[in-house]
Amino acid sequence: MKKVREWQRVLIPYEQAVEELKVKFKSIRNEFRELNEYSPIEFVTGRVKKISSILEKSKRRGIPEDQIETLMEDIAGIRIMCQFSDDIYKVVELIRSRDNKDLKIVYEKDYISNPKGSGYKSYHIIIKYPVQTAFGEREILAELQIRTLAMNFWATIEHSLNYKYKDTIPEDVKERLRKSSEAAAKLDDEMCEIRKEIINAQMLFEEKSNVVSDIVKNINVLSSNGKEVEALEYQAKFEEIFFRGSDWDLQELLEEIKGHLPRYKIFE
Ligand code: GTP
Ligand code: MG
Repeated sequence: MKKVREWQRVLIPYEQAVEELKVKFKSIRNEFRELNEYSPIEFVTGRVKKISSILEKSKRRGIPEDQIETLMEDIAGIRIMCQFSDDIYKVVELIRSRDNKDLKIVYEKDYISNPKGSGYKSYHIIIKYPVQTAFGEREILAELQIRTLAMNFWATIEHSLNYKYKDTIPEDVKERLRKSSEAAAKLDDEMCEIRKEIINAQMLFEEKSNVVSDIVKNINVLSSNGKEVEALEYQAKFEEIFFRGSDWDLQELLEEIKGHLPRYKIFE
C-alpha cells in the first residue's frame, strides 16, 4: 500500500501536464485573437484531482492502488469553454489534428449528441500526454472536456448538488435539473442563431465598405481622365447618399459612375 504522502510525488507530472496543456489551448485562442479572427475557444481551465478524490474514487470503483494511474483517466483534467455549440466540433477537430504529434487520442465520448441521463452535455477526449520530467519522459492520461458556457454553467450547478446530496438527489430535483439542461440547450441554439446574425452583419459591413472604396477610386479615375465636372457631381451625390441613402443606392451610384469610364479603368 502506497503511503499517502507518496501521492504528492506521483502528482508532479500531472501538474506539469495540466500547466502545459492550459498554455497550449490558451495560445490557440490568443493566435486567433491576434489575427482578428473568431476564436472557437473562449477560455480554458485545468486542475489536478485532489488526493482525497483520487482515493475516494478508487475505493468506489474498486481500482487497485497500483492501477490507479492506468485506469483513472481524469487525474489531469482540462476544460475548454466555447461561446457557441458549433465551436465544440471545431475544437475537437483542432485536437484531432494534433493526434500523434504532441498528444495521443485514446478515445472520445460525445455527450453532446448523446447526453447523459442526468442531462449532462460535453465532448470528452481522453489523451495520453508525454511530460519531460527531471527523471525522464512520463506518459500520463488526461481528460479534455469541451463544452459551451451554458453547458458549463449547468454542470457546475449540478455537480455542487451531487456533492450536497452525495449521489442521492431527490427525484423532483433531478427532474428539474433535466428540464434546466433542456433550457440550457435552448439557450445554446438561440445563441447559434444570433451568431449567424453577427456574421451576416459583419459581411454586410464589409460589403458596404468595399462599395465605398470603389466609388472613391472611380471618382478619382473620372477626375484624372479630364472629367472633373462629373467627378464633382458624383462626389456631391455620394455625400448625399452616404448619409441619407440605403446600401442599394450606393451600389447604384457605383454602377452609374462606372458607366462614364472606359471599361479598362474601372475599379470593382
Ligand atoms: P467518472 O467516474 O465521473 O469519471 O465517470 P466515467 O469514468 O464513467 O466517465 P464520464 O465520461 O461519465 O465522466 C467523466 C467526467 O465528466 C466526470 O468526472 C465529470 O467531470 C463529468 N460528468 C459526467 N457526468 C456528469 C454529470 O452527470 N454531471 C456533471 N456535473 N458532470 C458529469
Ligand atoms: Mg472518468
